[in-house]
Amino acid sequence: MRDPEFLDVKAAYDRWAPGYDGFDNPMVFAATRALAARVESQAPGFRGAEIGCGTGRNLAALKAAGASALSGFDLSAGMLDKARARNTGAALAVHDMADPLPLPDASQDLVLVALAFEHVSDLSAPLAEIRRVLDPAGRALVLEIHPFMAMTGVGAHFRDAEGAVTMPTVAHAVSGYLNAFAKAGLRVSGCREWRGGALAKDAPEALARKLVKRGADFPVLIDFELRPA
Ligand SMILES: C[S@@+](CC[C@H](N)C(=O)[O-])C[C@H]1O[C@@H](n2cnc3c(N)ncnc32)[C@H](O)[C@@H]1O
Repeated sequence: MRDPEFLDVKAAYDRWAPGYDGFDNPMVFAATRALAARVESQAPGFRGAEIGCGTGRNLAALKAAGASALSGFDLSAGMLDKARARNTGAALAVHDMADPLPLPDASQDLVLVALAFEHVSDLSAPLAEIRRVLDPAGRALVLEIHPFMAMTGVGAHFRDAEGAVTMPTVAHAVSGYLNAFAKAGLRVSGCREWRGGALAKDAPEALARKLVKRGADFPVLIDFELRPA
């Protein structure tokens, strides 16, 4: 078997875009569950943004939860093309989260980052921007591969007709997240660690097997809820 091809993040997601939503991805399954649990309590009519929105599957969930205005930002034009096809009504733009967000101060009730910080080594700039655009009563949700998983070498990867692809990923430590949140002026108002076994209970069989690969108690996803400090 050929070695996986190593692509930069933008090139990797441009290539993954056509197949991303059909990929049997346990992290996407876990993040979908975590987001649903968090937005259950969200009052309708909220203004929401997702940074690293990919194909827009979370934007669709936020729309279904009653968002009145949505924006989505992503490095990959290919992923955004897929997001555009969902017709969520979200304003979409190619954007690197290292750069300032094209959103006014205090303009968002909910800002989401899901499975995207694993591609960013320095969290300071995106978190400072999240803090800036959050309404004083708003919250941010950060749903990421659990550091325990990341530190076993698990990171974003895929296979398509041309072969396997890997890309740059960063294994953030829990302390790395906590210190970066504090530095940005964000306080943790909630944190949940999603274990493979609990998630596997209502997952399709092939995904369930992947979710418990390291044991039922092994945490696969970490979910932070953040508010302006
Ligand atoms: C695993 S996908 C997750 C997409 C979506 N959030 C979801 O939950 O399905 C990671 C996404 O982050 C985007 N991304 C990676 N680095 C980024 C950066 N520096 N700025 C903006 N987006 C980035 C990628 O292009 C990709 O669409």
